[in-house]
Amino acid sequence: MPITRRSLLELLGSSTFFLTVIPGSVFAATLPTDAAPLEFPQGVASGDPQPDGIMLWTRAVPAGGADTPVRLMVQLSADSDFSTLLLQEEVGTSAASDYTVRAYVDGLAPDTQYFYRFVGGAQSVSRTGRTRTAPAAGQARKVNLAFVSCQCYDQAYYGSWARMLAEDRAAAEEDRIQLVLHLGDFIYEYFWYKRGDGSPPSREVPPFPNGVDTPEYRYAVSLADYRMLYKTYLSDPHLQEARANWPFICTWDDHEFSNDCYQSFTTYDGEGVLDAPRKLCANQAWFEFIPAVLDELKEQPAHNFEPQVLGQDKTQQNQSAVDSLCIYRKLSWGNNLDIVLTDSRSYRTPPCLPEGFAASLGLPLNTVELVAIADAGSAYADGHPPATLPYGDGTVANPARERAPASMLGLAQRQWFLDTVTASTATWKIWGNALPLMPMRLDMSSLPFTGYEDSIFNIDCWAGYPHEVGVLMRHLEANNITGVVSLSGDHHMHGAGTVRRSTTEADAKPVAADFTVAGISSSPIFEDLMAAAKEDHPDFAVLVYKDTEHGVEPVWNISMLQGVLAAYTYSKTGMDALAGLLGPNAANAGLAYVDTTANGYGLASIDADEVRVQLITMQDCRVAFEQAPGIRHIAKFRLPHWRAGEAPQLQGPDFVGGAPFPFAPPSV
Ligand SMILES: [Fe+2]
Repeated sequence: MPITRRSLLELLGSSTFFLTVIPGSVFAATLPTDAAPLEFPQGVASGDPQPDGIMLWTRAVPAGGADTPVRLMVQLSADSDFSTLLLQEEVGTSAASDYTVRAYVDGLAPDTQYFYRFVGGAQSVSRTGRTRTAPAAGQARKVNLAFVSCQCYDQAYYGSWARMLAEDRAAAEEDRIQLVLHLGDFIYEYFWYKRGDGSPPSREVPPFPNGVDTPEYRYAVSLADYRMLYKTYLSDPHLQEARANWPFICTWDDHEFSNDCYQSFTTYDGEGVLDAPRKLCANQAWFEFIPAVLDELKEQPAHNFEPQVLGQDKTQQNQSAVDSLCIYRKLSWGNNLDIVLTDSRSYRTPPCLPEGFAASLGLPLNTVELVAIADAGSAYADGHPPATLPYGDGTVANPARERAPASMLGLAQRQWFLDTVTASTATWKIWGNALPLMPMRLDMSSLPFTGYEDSIFNIDCWAGYPHEVGVLMRHLEANNITGVVSLSGDHHMHGAGTVRRSTTEADAKPVAADFTVAGISSSPIFEDLMAAAKEDHPDFAVLVYKDTEHGVEPVWNISMLQGVLAAYTYSKTGMDALAGLLGPNAANAGLAYVDTTANGYGLASIDADEVRVQLITMQDCRVAFEQAPGIRHIAKFRLPHWRAGEAPQLQGPDFVGGAPFPFAPPSV
């Protein structure tokens, strides 16, 4: 008979339960005979595998819509038919947590597959979930993981999830995915009435219970709004299937709260606007719908959502909302792997340059030098920042002269990150990093006749925080820390490259690697760049796209990989061989691959010797999976482990099934 013991008594209405499997125990709880029948409209999920525990999740709604607390059982078994129960315990939930249930089960065996489900009254039962615990310390296990980001519900369908599930079912056991690393934008807090290219959305998001409407989009403002988004996204059968099939490890990016947010500030109109109540709602909804092990992790900063009373003081409001939930954390995966997850939003300083600043100086984009000065603040040039900025027709006071250097992680999290990777004894330190680390400069000074300068086209990602990239990479260099691999998202493109302490120091050596994954369904970045080039920046169109008889070519890929002069040359001549001779792009040293028209997902296979990465580009996610189930191409990479004093050597891409522009035809 099964063996269970409740390690902490539950409170109905509270949504976290602590349950322990004890080998040899024979106790199994039962529900009262009059317990209400339940429905499980968002399925089941599991999160943050530990060697001995896992967080299980469901949302259990009273059948018929009654607004009453409910009681249910969680069952755990080693068998998919639940013929032998390891655990059967009562848990409960209510409207207070929107009927979500978080049950942390420990006492499990490491590196072991389990099945789980939830049972309500009248034999109502959830779907069955499958999960897996992490290997124990000392186990040298090969790890297969999927990494994903940016799953905007309305911009496309979830064919990427469907393909991943189908491929995994067909794979040999040793090649099957063991966990999914979700790098953020699990939901989007806003719904645009049109896509970037003017076409209608693929799917509708229901109206918000509260929400704010603008002429172009509507956005969530209340707890009910954010909950509605999670419930809508989780209504998709493919996403539900993925959550039932694999344990997820999630961090967030901006859209779990607000586009391009920092701390509790939103930036819809450029300037930061404090909205602590909204941040609090976003945090609560994330905690309710994303199963993550937070309070249960010992000696880590991570903690569960803690309700806050927001007073009148603005600074305190901001702090309280940020402090309501802490999600940065480390998970250990045997000898080969530690997973270090960061929060790129809650502790970051405001953008180093306000929106429109470059334009006010007569510049089309923020220049590399302008960002370096504004970002480093008082620390620029070893503590000698310029009094004025060397741009524009006149002189402009340096707004950052007295400012502390900017930070994406915040000082406390940064120290934790550095301490964690320094102390890690795992061969690989996988950094779950919402934003791309790899360089993405647009060196327009290589077009001498334009007078334009070396520039950065997006300062919301790490490219806008070069000082902190330098701090992190210098630390890895100085302490001989190897095996740091960032898996990132956010940018709606596939990319791969190595990372240096600086993109402007010629002698900087690679010290880490970064693989950035395209969105599951969010519009590829090329769509937005092309729309912006057409509407607002026609002078730059030659660097972005080219209309040909075969269709539109993403010249932007050349701008990033081979440089602006190569892109310009290609656009004007159509001669890719000539453009190829002008690369690689010295401004983006280490950048090995971009695919900016992609939707899809990433796979990483990690053992003691190497990390193998596949970046999978789907055929077309704007239509339902059944209409376009295929893969357009796969880019494969190998990253052998490197020893102290050596530099990471990224090998690839090698293509399967074709190659994105401007890469050669398929090699396989
Ligand atoms: Fe995104």
